[in-house]
Amino acid sequence: MKLKGQCAIVTGAATGIGFAAAKRLAEEGASVVIADIKGHEAAATDLTAKGLDVVAVTADVSRDDSVSGLVKSTMERCGRIDIVVNNAAMASQLKPGPFEQKTAEDWLRVYDVNVVGIFRMCRAVSPHMRAAGSGRIINLSSGTAFKGTPGLMQYVASKGAIISMTRALASEFAPDNILVNAVAPGFTLSENAAAKPELRPYSEMAIATRLIKRDAYPIDLANVIYFLASPDAGFITGQVIAVDGGSVFH
Ligand SMILES: NC(=O)c1ccc[n+]([C@@H]2O[C@H](COP(=O)([O-])OP(=O)(O)OC[C@H]3O[C@@H](n4cnc5c(N)ncnc54)[C@H](O)[C@@H]3O)[C@@H](O)[C@H]2O)c1
Repeated sequence: MKLKGQCAIVTGAATGIGFAAAKRLAEEGASVVIADIKGHEAAATDLTAKGLDVVAVTADVSRDDSVSGLVKSTMERCGRIDIVVNNAAMASQLKPGPFEQKTAEDWLRVYDVNVVGIFRMCRAVSPHMRAAGSGRIINLSSGTAFKGTPGLMQYVASKGAIISMTRALASEFAPDNILVNAVAPGFTLSENAAAKPELRPYSEMAIATRLIKRDAYPIDLANVIYFLASPDAGFITGQVIAVDGGSVFH
């Protein structure tokens, strides 16, 4: 229970890696806000039934007013925000295809959620974390940013931007003891990915590149997200941890 008394927001936490992270943080004693555009009520009901301290809040990270509403309601509930996991993304719903077939609007929409969404969240929590003189921010990047995986160029570029943002945010936030890190998952069998048999070849290709020859599951990410949020990670900032069974080296 290393997070007892702390308050966390996990965006995109209705399912997949975000849900697993919210559950892991709550199991360690944190009060967790499950923020999403859909499915968050059911997710919160599930975890509340397990005795965990969670609440669902409707929040769209691509909207300024929605993000400020999320932070306001969290402050009203908890009086503090210690941990933010920026997990929400346009990810599993994207359809792979050659970059020539993508439009500028496709790019801008993905950037608005995946990249500017993190900026909005960090800007909104900044006054509260700075006033407290502490905070942990964990951003979800992707191994695709290191590999240049084909077929999803706007997504890959957005996940590369998150690595650069993580470093810049770590520099800006360091004077107030706010630590910012990222995790870069390899292909992970989140519920949405597991539900699509057409993605099985991607999973097999990913396993072939790994030193640890197995599928990745949301709990593999949740454990590292918890570590980065915990007191044990108090001397780590601006880093990207690849959680991919030993696939990329950087
Ligand atoms: N699963 C993988 O193989 C994999 C690999 C590398 C990186 N990642 C990253 O990990 C994170 C989670 O992955 P996942 O597989 O669980 O994703 P997912 O697509 O299954 O879930 C994403 C969640 O984000 C929510 N969301 C989407 N747009 C939102 C918005 N505008 N505001 C708030 N919430 C929004 C969705 O409703 C959903 O609950 C993502 O950032 C993804 O890019 C996943």
